[in-house]
Amino acid sequence: MISIEGLTKIYRSETGDVVALKNVNLKVSAGEVFGIIGSSGAGKSTLIRCINLLEKPTKGQVKIEGKDITKLSNRELMKLRRSLGMIFQHFNLLMQKTVNENIAFPLQVANVPRKQINERVKELLELVGLIDKADYYPSQLSGGQKQRVAIARALANNPKVLLCDEATSALDPITSKSILALLKDINKRFGLTIVLITHQIEVIKEICDRVAVIEKGQIIETGNVVDVLMHPKTTSTKNLVSSGLIDKIPPDMVLWGRKQDYQRRLKVSFSGEAAMKPVISYMVMEYQVYANILFADINYLKDTMVGELVLELSGERNAVEQSIRFLREQDLVIEELG
Ligand SMILES: Nc1ncnc2c1ncn2[C@@H]1O[C@H](COP(=O)(O)OP(=O)(O)OP(=O)(O)O)[C@@H](O)[C@H]1O
Ligand SMILES: [Mg+2]
Repeated sequence: MISIEGLTKIYRSETGDVVALKNVNLKVSAGEVFGIIGSSGAGKSTLIRCINLLEKPTKGQVKIEGKDITKLSNRELMKLRRSLGMIFQHFNLLMQKTVNENIAFPLQVANVPRKQINERVKELLELVGLIDKADYYPSQLSGGQKQRVAIARALANNPKVLLCDEATSALDPITSKSILALLKDINKRFGLTIVLITHQIEVIKEICDRVAVIEKGQIIETGNVVDVLMHPKTTSTKNLVSSGLIDKIPPDMVLWGRKQDYQRRLKVSFSGEAAMKPVISYMVMEYQVYANILFADINYLKDTMVGELVLELSGERNAVEQSIRFLREQDLVIEELG
């Protein structure tokens, strides 16, 4: 669907050049929700804006359905943009126009007849759940409602791809979830390909099929979400994906334990079938160790159950070491925490 090859973007200015993207290669398949995650300044917005040529690549190709769009004439580009909807962090609505008029706008630009516009706008208002707000102005809406208008507007011309630049970053967690659910629903119902960028791992967990991690203008990791989350290859990815809670457990915190006991602290991650097995209780009984659970979390990533656990094992040195060996033999990812 989308194929990015050797994409480099350099911003030139009097104060010097900024290399925002360096030799980026990515493939997005039709119908998937593809997430790009990275910290501030990593090049996320630049990358997503190169997909609809809001930014012109310095080098490399952006192919959509096999066609290199960097070679299109202005006229062809106008047409292409209609097949690529986009939504933004701050909604970018036309403040002087009503909800109705905002959604109708791209249809007017595309010279769609009035009657068809009215029908399509009504359909879209129903889709995003704002039928009763048709005559409101953006200033009369909440953030979540504004983003729903923006989504309706982006979908007006039936695009093949929806590009989302931090679409939920300005929203509270509950509203953010409802917008992500709406995007997921649209993706499923219409097979719409979605490319989204975010700095929040929750967004990736919530709706993405695959993810790419971007750092300093380069893609450092790509894969399906469960794989990347369970087996991050780089420290940067580890830092991005770690739930944050685990890092908040002070390393010198002593919750329980007798002086004579040998202790080790582990992070245990599990997915799929392994999540269902009573591994910990088996270990405790078999090796006679104490297992203190400092943190536990279970989520669904799409249809796969994944969990994280921070365990403090204490007891006889030998027993603790055997327990760790036992855990490593299971279908679990074990990481020692200092
Ligand atoms: N128009 C521009 N002119 C010059 N430099 C730019 C321009 N736009 C972006 N940059 C630089 O390119 C780099 C990547 O910026 P970009 O906006 O793509 O990052 P980002 O990952 O979207 O960050 P954020 O999460 O803060 O939105 C940054 O160093 C930024 O300062
Ligand atoms: Mg950005």
